[in-house]
Amino acid sequence: MSLMIVVMLLRSEVNAFSYRNAPQGIHIALTGVESEMSVMFFTQLKSKNYQIIYSTSSNLDILDVKVKQEVEHYKYIVYQVPGMYEELTVHEFILKGLPPATKIYYRIAMKNDETTTSETFSFITQKSRSELLKSDEPFQFLVYGDMDIFNDGQNTIDSIMRNHMKDTQFILHIGDIPYVWNHEHEYKWEKWFDMIEPITSAMPYIVCNGNHENASNFTSYKTRFTNSTVSVTTKSNTQSNLYYSFDYGSIHFITISSEHDYALQTRWMEEDLAKVNREETPFIIFYSHRPMYSSNENHGSYDPIRIAVEPLLRKYKVDLALFGHVHAYERTCPISEQGVCDKKKHRNYFKNADGTIHIHVGTAGFELNQKWDPKPEWSTYRETNHGYLRIKVFGKRALSVEFLRNGVTTADSFLIEK
Ligand SMILES: [Fe+2]
Repeated sequence: MSLMIVVMLLRSEVNAFSYRNAPQGIHIALTGVESEMSVMFFTQLKSKNYQIIYSTSSNLDILDVKVKQEVEHYKYIVYQVPGMYEELTVHEFILKGLPPATKIYYRIAMKNDETTTSETFSFITQKSRSELLKSDEPFQFLVYGDMDIFNDGQNTIDSIMRNHMKDTQFILHIGDIPYVWNHEHEYKWEKWFDMIEPITSAMPYIVCNGNHENASNFTSYKTRFTNSTVSVTTKSNTQSNLYYSFDYGSIHFITISSEHDYALQTRWMEEDLAKVNREETPFIIFYSHRPMYSSNENHGSYDPIRIAVEPLLRKYKVDLALFGHVHAYERTCPISEQGVCDKKKHRNYFKNADGTIHIHVGTAGFELNQKWDPKPEWSTYRETNHGYLRIKVFGKRALSVEFLRNGVTTADSFLIEK
């Protein structure tokens, strides 16, 4: 049999899903365990008859049991989309036993019929902790908020696809994800996941909620991203993905919802921060949607979260506090207490700074907020353009933070050194 005929036979065995059965919105997430990855997707079809087939080999079409593994559902949720008649089925699988820093290929197929299949996707697994801590080989992650589903959001996605897929370990999206205003905009979740799937299928996508996730009383957010509750329930001991923490390399990340009761969340936050071992994770990054400090005329500083959380940032010497909500970029001086700058007055280099540097970067796509109030003393740099943060982590030694205007030009940058 000629090679051509063999190839034709193999291809003829592969069937595309029908629209109703097709997996949509494929996105991966960290679980808090180095050797694992969560894979989630949605189907119109209400059925557990799905499986994930994965391997270190790209050749998933050949029935070679030596390289191929299958995995059962971790979570299966049938969910009534708010304000709509239809139900959506949410599938989550946890891939386990993955080697570090290795390319994993995966596809979604029907159970007992793996010829009905999605295309093959891939991601690179997390580096080992010792690799992440190498100070001469930094790793990087990207941060933004407020994307929406229109052209400027697509530009952000295109820029990441063009420039940052290879070197980025994960993305942090700080709320206002597809910008749902009310039930009639629920369709925007589908559109947003379609747009961003080339990224979310290939790189862990970490989220927190913004005010626009409230359109469904946060149901869509909580259900579509149940992946982050894996680390929540195993590590942070909270019951939802509204507030949680996790460690990655030399950083302890912690978030609370800017849209929910602060008394409960700050109680949990204090317990969490009190346990951080600064020898292991010398850096702490806090993130939430509404900024404590903004001199933009639209929204401005949101005092309730500042009053509730700022004392904890000071007490536990949090290095960075990242926010969205305002559709512009602004970076503060290290703030030691309400509006007071570290007296050392450095602009781009900070060692043992007395205070937390705040940034709002709600610049991933939604219409920009052009107008500013007179510049306060605590405002170090501000501009109104789309773009996102690139943070490079030099082991336990330093963080370098850049605002990439339109994902390309370094418009602002600074270094925090321990
Ligand atoms: Fe917002």
